[in-house]
Amino acid sequence: MKTIVTGGSGLIGSHLTKRLIELGRDVIVVDDFSRGNELNFSDLGIKPEIKKIDLRDLEKLKTEFKGVESVFHLAARVGSLDWLHGTKMRDLAWFQDNCAIDANVFRACIENSVGRIVYPSSAAVYPIHEQEHAGAVFSEDDLDLAHVRTQTIDPDGGYGWAKLVGEVQLSWAADIKISVARLFNVYGENFALDQTAPVIPSLIRRLLENPKGPFVVWGDGEQTRDFLYVSDCVDALIKLEDIATSPMNIVNLGAGSNVSIGNIAKLIVEISGFDAEIQFDVEKPVGPISRQPDISKANALLGWYPEVDFETGLRRVYSWLQKRLNEASRS
Ligand SMILES: NC(=O)c1ccc[n+]([C@@H]2O[C@H](COP(=O)([O-])OP(=O)(O)OC[C@H]3O[C@@H](n4cnc5c(N)ncnc54)[C@H](O)[C@@H]3O)[C@@H](O)[C@H]2O)c1
Repeated sequence: MKTIVTGGSGLIGSHLTKRLIELGRDVIVVDDFSRGNELNFSDLGIKPEIKKIDLRDLEKLKTEFKGVESVFHLAARVGSLDWLHGTKMRDLAWFQDNCAIDANVFRACIENSVGRIVYPSSAAVYPIHEQEHAGAVFSEDDLDLAHVRTQTIDPDGGYGWAKLVGEVQLSWAADIKISVARLFNVYGENFALDQTAPVIPSLIRRLLENPKGPFVVWGDGEQTRDFLYVSDCVDALIKLEDIATSPMNIVNLGAGSNVSIGNIAKLIVEISGFDAEIQFDVEKPVGPISRQPDISKANALLGWYPEVDFETGLRRVYSWLQKRLNEASRS
């Protein structure tokens, strides 16, 4: 089955591409490599067909979707908290880029009669003001597209608004079988390591670069997140493709966990074996207090349960990052 993975050189895309190739699928990666990396393919031992295209340019991508049966549309401008929401202009740029990317990909899918789309949306679509207290848990009904006129719409910044607009566009694409995954935090090997890196690789890198400490953690460490290991995410995305339907499915994907940033820092120090003192910098931005998924719909619909526990996944990411940094310092 001819399959496009947009954003296929990124964190989730590279692992998904590997899995699809193993399943015997004819995979084309479409990516501009603005955040993804070809090293991610060599590390995973794969050589997929690659089209280097900026998806904001509709003319360039129209012909690539001919004869394609399925699209995993993972490309998006993604970044850490201060990178995404550093200024209003950043929020605007992220909104505009992600809306353009999504609109172009969906239009190319419609014009080329692509049969199936899997779209990773985000926890960022849920009302941000409801994430300001400990233990905030979200189920799909907390943002139901059928009731947007009566529900409170308050997504997280330009990125969250763009994901919501992406979902709305897909809800109108009547002839395509679609699944939407509202992802919370996905982690794993092949994280972006530049200034847009999210919390886990940023913390590991900070410690590796300053093993004697102090090990500075943004905020008071009390804010919590859900972390889903990338292989579990890939399993679920492939199952979502199987059950894609019209009108579309929307499911939360996460581990159903609630890990505090302070505990992640402690675990990273433990894994490292370094004797670094953790210092909390409460002046730095931390984002919402709590954002946790109810994953019962994914469990029931997909027969899917995450398998990799957080400490196992974190150890894998730690080893991978250590290796990447060692290789970079040698070259
Ligand atoms: N990782 C998470 O925690 C998480 C959480 C919620 C949603 N998501 C969504 O899942 C998808 C994949 O996320 P990820 O963590 O693998 O991110 P990533 O940044 O590692 O991958 C995104 C890929 O998209 C590519 N890309 C960006 N702009 C592009 C453009 N204009 N044209 C072509 N390619 C472009 C990047 O080069 C990158 O390879 C994204 O849509 C993201 O919004 C991820």
